[in-house]
Amino acid sequence: MVGVSRRELLIGSAATGSAFAVGGLAARAANAANHELVMSAYDHSFLPGTVTQNMMSFLPDGPPPVLRMKRGEKTAIDVKNHLDEASVVHWHGLRIANAMDGVPYLTQHPIEAGQSYRYEFTPPDAGTFWYHPHCNTLEQMARGLTGVLIVDEDEDPGFDLDLPLNIRDFRLGGDGQFIELFKARNAARGGTYGTVSTVNWDVNPVYEVPAGGLVRLRLAITDVTRVGTFGVEDAEAQVIALDSNPLPHSMPADTILLSPGQRADVAVRVPDDEGQEVTLLLRRPNGDKSLARFRAIGPSARRSLTELKPLPVNPVPMPDLANAEVIDFVFGWSPEGDAPQASICGSLGYTFWSINREAWPGDVPGPLDPLARMKLGKSYILRLRNESPNDHPIHLHGVSFKLLRSNKRRLPPLVTDTALLLEEETLEVALVADNPGDWAFHCHVIEHQKTGLAGFLRIES
Ligand code: C2O
Ligand code: CU
Ligand code: CU
Repeated sequence: MVGVSRRELLIGSAATGSAFAVGGLAARAANAANHELVMSAYDHSFLPGTVTQNMMSFLPDGPPPVLRMKRGEKTAIDVKNHLDEASVVHWHGLRIANAMDGVPYLTQHPIEAGQSYRYEFTPPDAGTFWYHPHCNTLEQMARGLTGVLIVDEDEDPGFDLDLPLNIRDFRLGGDGQFIELFKARNAARGGTYGTVSTVNWDVNPVYEVPAGGLVRLRLAITDVTRVGTFGVEDAEAQVIALDSNPLPHSMPADTILLSPGQRADVAVRVPDDEGQEVTLLLRRPNGDKSLARFRAIGPSARRSLTELKPLPVNPVPMPDLANAEVIDFVFGWSPEGDAPQASICGSLGYTFWSINREAWPGDVPGPLDPLARMKLGKSYILRLRNESPNDHPIHLHGVSFKLLRSNKRRLPPLVTDTALLLEEETLEVALVADNPGDWAFHCHVIEHQKTGLAGFLRIES
């Protein structure tokens, strides 16, 4: 945000400035980043009368900013690491060059405390994405380092308001301070849940929205653990995109199953009467919980969901299923006796999980072997088998894949980067290996990722 305003200032003054100044300003503008993230300590109040200490943000003076960029336009993001530990930043869901993917050792050296790194890429797809560290990942994300990233469509789809919602929990005690970030016995099962649910770092906030207007809610589940069912209530609402890819047919927005890493774009038609409220709920067996409310303001705009332009399909190549090679993966517990290796990117000290019976040793310099090799340009079917009684949101960096079939349920015809693999489920997904490099492949329940359920796939020519 700081970077954007500085850049706009420079461009503005270059346009209106005197002739002799233009050259120098233009040169500086060309060199300035579009965005700047400053990984910093930043304390915040969640619970009345308390200030949570030991938090981390991407700004020194506020919660993580929403990064907005244009599809097909090159963007530069300067990351300054003002933490007192190493980090890297990963752009979840963006199909960009491997060197910009932000995975320690696999794609870059960790950014040491006090150092900076410039990420530069051109987003090929529009939609709702997010960003987070990939080093000491559980601790840094649990303390706050998760932000929303939006890539705008080439043409405005026609909403009156666009509202990014960074949805996550924090693990706080009654005094507002962090309690142990995970428990080992939970890490070996479904993961350790947070205690305070937030949207954009607020507990059950109220947003003012135009009465009778059309609002795009961008749900980004940036939590480290929670698989949940979300619902928008008391308004006409449709899910129009999942995981940044538009749905061929919109789906009802009353029960949206989302796991860590996943996103949903919901088109809402706000009620006509001023003061009426729409609610975003987390559905729970023991009673739904309100996460955020949206209050109608002003005279009705009298709009209709049918006025929205359909979102354009992203240019993800479609796999050639007839000639696709099948690669098998099995996700389960780890063989006994493995211990994680020490790393500047942290270790939880336990190994509980594995892919193909191999536990990831931790974020270490390597060299490490890929779980599979794929030939550039070829189509593959990945058969993902979960032999555990827990859910695993399986995420692949660098390429998007299409859901084909499950042995348990009917799947939407979805293109995604993160697929929820239910307990004991086998999913088949397909992709074109069109992006060369070493691509991280892991569960997005971060305790699972950090205790073995991680690896990478190599795409090579
Ligand atoms: Cu959002 Cu490697 O992940
Ligand atoms: Cu990712
Ligand atoms: Cu998992």
